[in-house]
Amino acid sequence: MAVSDTVVSADLIDGKAFAQGLRGRVAAAVADLKRKQGLTPGLAVVLVGEDPASQVYVRSKGRQTVEAGMNSFEHRLPETTSQDELLAKVAELNADPAVHGILVQLPLPAQIDSQTVIAAIDPDKDVDGFHVINAGRLMTGASGAAAPLVPCTPLGCLLLLKDRLGDLSGLTAVVVGRSNIVGKPMAQLLVAESCTVTVAHSRTRDLPAVCRGADILVAAVGRPQMIKGDWVKPGATVIDVGINRIDVEDGKTRLVGDVAFDEAAAVAGAITPVPGGVGPMTIACLLANTVTAACRSAGLPLPDFGTG
Ligand code: GUN
Repeated sequence: MAVSDTVVSADLIDGKAFAQGLRGRVAAAVADLKRKQGLTPGLAVVLVGEDPASQVYVRSKGRQTVEAGMNSFEHRLPETTSQDELLAKVAELNADPAVHGILVQLPLPAQIDSQTVIAAIDPDKDVDGFHVINAGRLMTGASGAAAPLVPCTPLGCLLLLKDRLGDLSGLTAVVVGRSNIVGKPMAQLLVAESCTVTVAHSRTRDLPAVCRGADILVAAVGRPQMIKGDWVKPGATVIDVGINRIDVEDGKTRLVGDVAFDEAAAVAGAITPVPGGVGPMTIACLLANTVTAACRSAGLPLPDFGTG
């Protein structure tokens, strides 16, 4: 698919289609749980304030949760909510047996410390995978009953990479971005797949040269089109986590990633588009994590979504 007159030689990684398949597997597992165990997984999403982007995400999460056959509990709290009020809501959801997954939408208003709130979530209901217990379990490679709930966006990236490349062992991976939500857990997941991993960021010296060494290049910096075509190793697999809205002519806007798509697609072996690449994977993985959390809470075997 050429989006301009630049020649696109890379294969497009269709996250939209992959996410649809994953949601189908989740829905089948939910139907099975309901029929055989009388268990309906439930996801509670808490939104504080009126951030427009967060409202869109939360609505989408609720709709897709219901479409997968699960219970969706949406809690909208005013912008002025205090930290104690939010902690009380989290405690209520921790204690509710119908709630198997809890997600507090970020960012939170300035009067609330997000780390304190995340730390209050029961780690076994932390379907975002942000609690230090889950981060620690991911870092130490814990498995079985102690396996982590893994942050949804990097988990989605990993599924796309494994679908494209199969065994990742021995490959060189560069993750640009070091956030707790994407960059750091992405690096841990790739280490666990026996990749040789570099975490690069805004202070990295000669970032283009570092990126050019990557068989797998994951961009998660939140800077529109920062990664240029000549930063990409020929044949590399490029995963673009960025979702940036930029102004184009006539007052119109357009969504672009952190990668200059046309340039990079002329060099890469495969690349995720924006939109339609990583984006749809995040909610699909959230649904999968919710089913995983529900099965764990009931002591049931975990369904295999290819996410384990
Ligand atoms: N805000 C943007 N992405 C996320 C996410 O994955 N989880 C939560 N809780 N908030 C977000």
